[in-house]
Amino acid sequence: MDLAPILLFILPAYVANATPVVFGGGLPVDLRKKFVDGERILGDGKTWKGLLAGLSFGSITGIVEWQMCSLVLLPASVCYLNYLPLGFVLSLGTMLGDLAGSFIKRRMRMKRGHPSLILDQLSFLVFALLFSYQYVPEGLITTEVIILLLVLTYLLHVASNIIANRIGLKSVPW
Ligand code: CTP
Ligand code: MG
Repeated sequence: MDLAPILLFILPAYVANATPVVFGGGLPVDLRKKFVDGERILGDGKTWKGLLAGLSFGSITGIVEWQMCSLVLLPASVCYLNYLPLGFVLSLGTMLGDLAGSFIKRRMRMKRGHPSLILDQLSFLVFALLFSYQYVPEGLITTEVIILLLVLTYLLHVASNIIANRIGLKSVPW
């Protein structure tokens, strides 16, 4: 398994998933409206600024990858991927998967920020993979690769929480 194209492939999704934490805030996507069950549709953790930040920075990541291939700053062995549409569709899938995760959390009456491994960390990955499907070169995303990405996403999640705790952004390391 050649790791380099797989990591470059998924990078826009990780960037799109991480940037809203830094640039989000303000008007919530659901405009503070409630669903028929009386709970918020999505909650205050999903904002328009965060959504646009994720879409923009994830797409820019794809543009940078494409540009690096054009300038031959990346080897040909990773430049058979169509990074330009990939960056955008991966970001779009990531952000919609994140909204879907929060929608389900609210239906389960979980408060904003309540940890749910699958809904927080894996829904974005599943949506990103589904959205990017038609732009993925044949043979790149096999069952083994999907398992690898699930494990990698989990490890990144654990590592980022520990770092956030060490630098004082979070009070607990999980
Ligand atoms: N964020 C945002 N807009 C988004 C996604 C995230 O502004 N579309 C910001 C919010 O400040 C949010 C933080 O990034 O609190 C962390 O994102 P996430 O963990 O997805 O949200 P939670 O606050 O945990 O809310 P939820 O329970 O709905 O997942
Ligand atoms: Mg959260």
